[in-house]
Amino acid sequence: MPEPTVIIRSDRARVFGNRHPWVFSGAIHEVQGSPADGDIVALRDRDGNFLARGYWNHHSQINVHVLTWDEDQAIDDAWWRNQLTRAISARAVENALHERTPNAYRLVNAENDNIPGLVVDRYADFVVIQALTLGIDRRKQMLAKLLMEMLSPTGIYERSDADVRVKEGLTPVTGLLAGRKPPPLIEIDENGRRFLVDIYNGHKTGFYLDQRSNRATLGNWLRFDPEADTRTILNCFSYSGGFSVYALDGMAKRVINIDASADALALAKRNVALNGFPTPEEDFVLGDVFDVLRKYRAENQRFDVIILDPPKFANNQKQVEGATRGYKDINMLAFQLLKPGGMLMTYSCSGLVDADLFQKVVFGALLDARRDAQIVMKLTAGTDHPVSLTFPEGAYLKGLLCRVW
Ligand SMILES: C[S@@+](CC[C@H](N)C(=O)[O-])C[C@H]1O[C@@H](n2cnc3c(N)ncnc32)[C@H](O)[C@@H]1O
Repeated sequence: MPEPTVIIRSDRARVFGNRHPWVFSGAIHEVQGSPADGDIVALRDRDGNFLARGYWNHHSQINVHVLTWDEDQAIDDAWWRNQLTRAISARAVENALHERTPNAYRLVNAENDNIPGLVVDRYADFVVIQALTLGIDRRKQMLAKLLMEMLSPTGIYERSDADVRVKEGLTPVTGLLAGRKPPPLIEIDENGRRFLVDIYNGHKTGFYLDQRSNRATLGNWLRFDPEADTRTILNCFSYSGGFSVYALDGMAKRVINIDASADALALAKRNVALNGFPTPEEDFVLGDVFDVLRKYRAENQRFDVIILDPPKFANNQKQVEGATRGYKDINMLAFQLLKPGGMLMTYSCSGLVDADLFQKVVFGALLDARRDAQIVMKLTAGTDHPVSLTFPEGAYLKGLLCRVW
């Protein structure tokens, strides 16, 4: 049987030189053969020249996710094993760079590790996977078997309940894929700090692994601050207290957590306690950050460090303008609430708001706040979230550490 083939429009074939892994329906001239969703297809130009090979899904606007640009490369079991091995071995080297080898990190970062649609995270003895595309969903048993062979985890749990699956014609799925069921909370070690992770109900696969190096930066910053024990820190959008534990470990006097989720705050409290720090009720504020910061401003409260790590504000192009308004608002409030010499650690995880736009928004917020500030560090996700140079969308997390005057 000839390989099903997708013929690319003449005016789009040139773009393939950029090696972006997504092929949108608008680029397709015709489909030869009848590929089932998830099947491997070849991509060719109208003269029959090979362009790439990937998996097909007629439900998605992204009809093909490219897996290889090499005509001689078959997408067989050996190919999948090889890609997983590549990502996992790279992570082993990157982990060795940390002050203490973490036992929770991203093992496979989807498109950025050349396996579009597959996220694999390790949490101590367990592995959590997300199948974000139909092509991966169809192969997840095979992938789980390979991961069991390669990593020997106690169990592999699936958290395929991300919204993007809808675009692939998939419904949310969660459940055990292999091995033993994980406990309700898994304890992980991140740079010597301990955290309980709820892989069943937590955000993403349970923990914001992407902020690992930034949490460490905050902790180190405080550790070398001779006045750390006088500092009051506001951890806005605190989730399960990641930044808070590092700040307390860095000798901060007080860390106030603000989150709209009672479950996240309860876990934050447990994580702070797990690391041996007190958990006064008033340091765990259930509320909307936009409102709480306005209240603090009305009360004339001031802080030494403010962390802003909000959820994704823009899911599509139409939401970008509203998202930038949201970022500007919270950053303006934070600038107003910081003492002179205070630090702002501010993030955006909206892929559609790129680093330049984010910096412009923070600049606008600074002007509105009538403060002065300098960028001390530009921040990104950690080394376990590599970004493929051919996939700029992979650089979704960007942040700025600013000193504010
Ligand atoms: C990106 S996560 C923060 C991750 C955290 N910094 C960490 O390192 O684990 C965003 C958090 O914001 C919370 N959230 C979303 N909207 C909020 C709002 N308007 N006010 C307060 N919290 C909000 C969510 O419950 C979630 O815990």
